[in-house]
Amino acid sequence: MIRYFDNAASSWPKPPSVAEIMKSMMVECTANPGRGGHKMAVQASRVMFDTRKKLAKLFSIKNPNDIAFTQNTTMALNMAISGILRESDHVICTSIEHNSVHRPLEHLILQRKIEVSYLPAQQDGTIQLKQYEQTFRNNTKLVIINHSSNLLGSIMPVAEMAKIAKLKGAFVLIDAAQTAGMIPIDVNQINADMLAFPGHKGLLGPQGTGGLYIHPNLELEPLITGGTGSKSEDKYQPNVRPDRYEAGTQNTVGIAGLGEGVKFVLNETVERIQAKKNKQMIRLMEQLSTIEGLRILGPEIGIPRTGLVSFLLKNIDSSELAFILDQTFNIAVRAGYHCTPLAHQVAGTMEGGAVRASIGYFTTDEEVDALADALKDIAKHYT
Ligand SMILES: Cc1ncc(COP(=O)(O)O)c(C=O)c1O
Repeated sequence: MIRYFDNAASSWPKPPSVAEIMKSMMVECTANPGRGGHKMAVQASRVMFDTRKKLAKLFSIKNPNDIAFTQNTTMALNMAISGILRESDHVICTSIEHNSVHRPLEHLILQRKIEVSYLPAQQDGTIQLKQYEQTFRNNTKLVIINHSSNLLGSIMPVAEMAKIAKLKGAFVLIDAAQTAGMIPIDVNQINADMLAFPGHKGLLGPQGTGGLYIHPNLELEPLITGGTGSKSEDKYQPNVRPDRYEAGTQNTVGIAGLGEGVKFVLNETVERIQAKKNKQMIRLMEQLSTIEGLRILGPEIGIPRTGLVSFLLKNIDSSELAFILDQTFNIAVRAGYHCTPLAHQVAGTMEGGAVRASIGYFTTDEEVDALADALKDIAKHYT
């Protein structure tokens, strides 16, 4: 049996109801939502709205139509970044961003001559709020907050950062790729103008799902334009939400699956999920910290972090370590740069990367102990 520790990339397994509803949708209802008034099309629209409603409840969003479905977090982040930034705008983000923020920003530096300040983060993922405050300029349009680093597991003080951004008149975009469904998020409480989230990680839905919350007072240029099934006679993209941001046929089957994932999370409650993960992370990190030659990245044991830990083992390359864990112990982890060379630069791990183990809702204590035992065993041979 595989022991899966790659939940930060995509969670596995999913609650059985996710696959069940996806199968029944495939068999019974693959009509286009929002197009056509026949019964099956209406049923498809209903399923989409139902998932939107559940997501709205999870993030305390008043109007479910302020959520646009996307294929993943990357698309949501691109939609937000490209939709709001204009020539000469200034953006603040951190020096530990994922490539799905870093690359769109670098692209717009070339394409729209935007300016970007990468606020330095420390090796434990913390930033200095004073320094952050001093980074604002007259033309600062947007602050992007990486809610949790996918390499370090550290958690950003989103509410404080957003509060400062609001005082300075900037919009706030939160990258919740590593926190949605794992840390409680209330968009009003944290002053989020936009929240980009995946369906396939902590929300326990299938790949190919995600979304972007857009504050009702904020208008974005759509990333793509095209058919929406509404106002078809108009040559311009309709203003009505969510259609404005959802051109083309949607992933109805995937979104139905996401709805079941979110339902599961709502029933369990994010608070309980977070508490369970915290306990297991401490269990894992306490064991890892006894291994000679093993360096743990990110916050110390006991400091809040999400359900992942990255590490290096002396005298062994991270890809080789991941390979041995997979081939000899049937343990799935992720090695390399985790699409975040920025964070690896901060961690000082650009040479060879690191190994990341990430737990999920279904991870058991026995699996955690098996990972720690496997690493102890490997360490004996290399250190
Ligand atoms: C912090 C962070 N942002 C963005 C992404 C991109 O997410 P997605 O794979 O849903 O596009 C990831 C993926 O791991 C991530 O960890």
